[in-house]
Amino acid sequence: MRYWLLAFYIFLFFFLLIESFLHWFIWGAFILYLPILYMAIRDFNQTESNIRKNYPFLGTINEFLDKQRHVLQEVLLQNRWEGRPFSLLQINYVKKKANDSLMSLPFGSELDFSSKDYFWCEHSLYPLKDIHHEFRVKIGSSLCQNPYESSIINVGAMSFGSISSAAVSALCNGAKKENFAVNTGEGGISKYHWESGCDLIWQIGTAYFGCRDKEGNFDEVLFQKQAIHEQVKMIEIKISQGAKPGFGAILPASKNTEEIAKIRMIRPHTEVHSPGYHSMFSSHEELLAFIDKLRDLSNNKPIGIKLCLGKKEDFKSLCQLMRQYKMYPDFIVIEGGEGGSGAADLDSIHHMGWPLSESLKYVVATLRKNQLKDEIKVISTGKVLSSIDIANNLSKGADLCYSARGMMFSLGCVQSLKCNTNKCPTGITTMDQARISGLDVTDKTNKVANYQRNLIKGLANIYKASGIDNLKDKEKLKFNTLKKVYS
Ligand SMILES: Cc1cc2nc3c(=O)[nH]c(=O)nc-3n(C[C@H](O)[C@H](O)[C@H](O)COP(=O)(O)O)c2cc1C
Repeated sequence: MRYWLLAFYIFLFFFLLIESFLHWFIWGAFILYLPILYMAIRDFNQTESNIRKNYPFLGTINEFLDKQRHVLQEVLLQNRWEGRPFSLLQINYVKKKANDSLMSLPFGSELDFSSKDYFWCEHSLYPLKDIHHEFRVKIGSSLCQNPYESSIINVGAMSFGSISSAAVSALCNGAKKENFAVNTGEGGISKYHWESGCDLIWQIGTAYFGCRDKEGNFDEVLFQKQAIHEQVKMIEIKISQGAKPGFGAILPASKNTEEIAKIRMIRPHTEVHSPGYHSMFSSHEELLAFIDKLRDLSNNKPIGIKLCLGKKEDFKSLCQLMRQYKMYPDFIVIEGGEGGSGAADLDSIHHMGWPLSESLKYVVATLRKNQLKDEIKVISTGKVLSSIDIANNLSKGADLCYSARGMMFSLGCVQSLKCNTNKCPTGITTMDQARISGLDVTDKTNKVANYQRNLIKGLANIYKASGIDNLKDKEKLKFNTLKKVYS
């Protein structure tokens, strides 16, 4: 077959060439045809792709269309309720809240009400006129002297390096405007975080970016210098992340600019791999001692840990030890395996880590069993996009939530799945200045602020409809599924 195809291309070449001499207007077709012949011969001579070798040129078209599959599906072929990680319905929800525009939908829900995964919230026969609750939560155990009054929904961890300077600025300015916090992610604190003046949750990852010595070990002095800054309200030790639990993070060389390298204290333009483990602790005792140390160094600010649940036994024994030693973090961030990432390892992203719903229930129950729930606040993260998602998580015992990709949608993310290539078309997850220039910081600041404010407004409406006047009763809100009803 491949010889026939190539023979046909060569025949066409000579045919067009001869015809061009006989009829001048064929010259155009001949010139247009030359790249096709070039591609066919190139395909025939390469060894990388079987399909291109056997079907010269057609194989190239096939591979080109395959690369565009995601865009074609998303733009032309997909139904609104389809699409992963997020459906168009979900993305449009964020857009509406971020634009502060027409916040209604016509005709009826497009969801499948007979699906076993469909869930609904049980409202009251007597909705409330108003509710009297500020959606803020105090984070800080009895071991902490500088608690933080946090909003119920903050920006989840995304480091400068995985997201652009313009994205960081817009998120931080939006947070300042509506008085909520931004988690810095593990890439350190950049000038874009500081300039905004917003509340920061400083995340420390396994590479200790921003507080490490030349060998990559944790540096107390560098940590303290930033931790005591007034803008830093809490510190979060990232133990593991849903998309890559137990795996390290990757910063591609193309994203490792001079500016990012300086903040992270690494060599620029090199691919940087953070380890999957912490060098400061490898046992429960050492972890609890490290939490204590950070609390001391940071003027007694709330210290938390972020993890994706793996072996349940590990978490259970950690809680037992916390109870025994009376040493604990002030908050625990629990992320589901469905969590996102700028770049996750192929072998970790799909099948590692408990999903959020199940792990949240387990973590809350285990903390309660060990009488730790009043001391430790639980923050849940993983596909929290809407007010109903927040209410659902709070009903399962979370005290507050993070949203990372939801906030990205409010910045204009189109889910092009290019975060790991430096080619994000919306200027959010790229260091390419030409692409970043498409993201208008002033416009997106307003959108981030609108989105967060409207999420809280929606949450208040859900509580009103459900007859719940106070966040203390958040767990009285019941969610149901057909699976539950029929089991
Ligand atoms: C671009 C990007 C960068 C991220 N960077 C970090 C990070 O530095 N540290 C971290 O703990 N999680 C990071 N995450 C995970 C998010 O903080 C969050 O936990 C996860 O995406 C689940 O929340 P979501 O569904 O609201 O996005 C990142 C996620 C994305 C999409």
